[in-house]
Amino acid sequence: MIIRTFETPDETAAAVAQRVVRALAEKPALVVGLPTGQTPIATYAELRRRHAAGEVDFARATTFNLDEFAGIPPSHPGSFRMFMERHLFQGINLAPARTHFLDGTAPDLDVECERYEAAIGAAGGIDLLLAGIGANGHIGFNEPGDTLSARTHRVALAASTRRHNAALFGGDPADVPREALSMGIGTMLKAGAIVLVATGAHKAACIERAVHGPVTTRLPASFLQLHRHVELYLDAAAASRLGPR
Ligand code: PGA
Repeated sequence: MIIRTFETPDETAAAVAQRVVRALAEKPALVVGLPTGQTPIATYAELRRRHAAGEVDFARATTFNLDEFAGIPPSHPGSFRMFMERHLFQGINLAPARTHFLDGTAPDLDVECERYEAAIGAAGGIDLLLAGIGANGHIGFNEPGDTLSARTHRVALAASTRRHNAALFGGDPADVPREALSMGIGTMLKAGAIVLVATGAHKAACIERAVHGPVTTRLPASFLQLHRHVELYLDAAAASRLGPR
């Protein structure tokens, strides 16, 4: 793994945005995997700023979000589609038809997951996958457990994940959907390059385990050790348990 550390969350976000800008300059028809959560908000703000400054063009890019809640329509204010509209898509020139989401209201969620796998394949696969990491070690909505699914699949959300997402649903974890759809670990590992971003001291323990611990379904991010090109973008707090390098 390539580990890049920065003093602050803002410097980390600027570097991740620069990584995306560079990838788009090299390949304008880039296929990008996109996360939600608190961490990417600053990166998305920086990408909007750089787009407004004429420094990055998304016209030919394609995106696939990593996950989506089940049971709520795309127009729901808590949906990840709405999150992406607010934080990124409204401020850049990405064609709506090129942005892809899992549909948590599809009549058959298993069929929906297979549709998503096929759509990623039809786009030629994901070139650059951005991801966050949950404090419990999840990536996408692949939660720790006895097993992990390789392919895009339905997941039961951990109680901690529902608490963490409560703000999107008015603040009460009970109102957060119990289920979601997520790219599988195998889907993610097929990406050409993976950029994992983490900031804050609360991420230090799971980053340490993801980098140095065993590959285990108990810490889904540890599976990134199996990929040939992973870049970690960390602030000093998230990197604080990695030791001197
Ligand atoms: P966060 O979430 O960026 O809000 O910490 C990360 C994640 O759960 O993947």
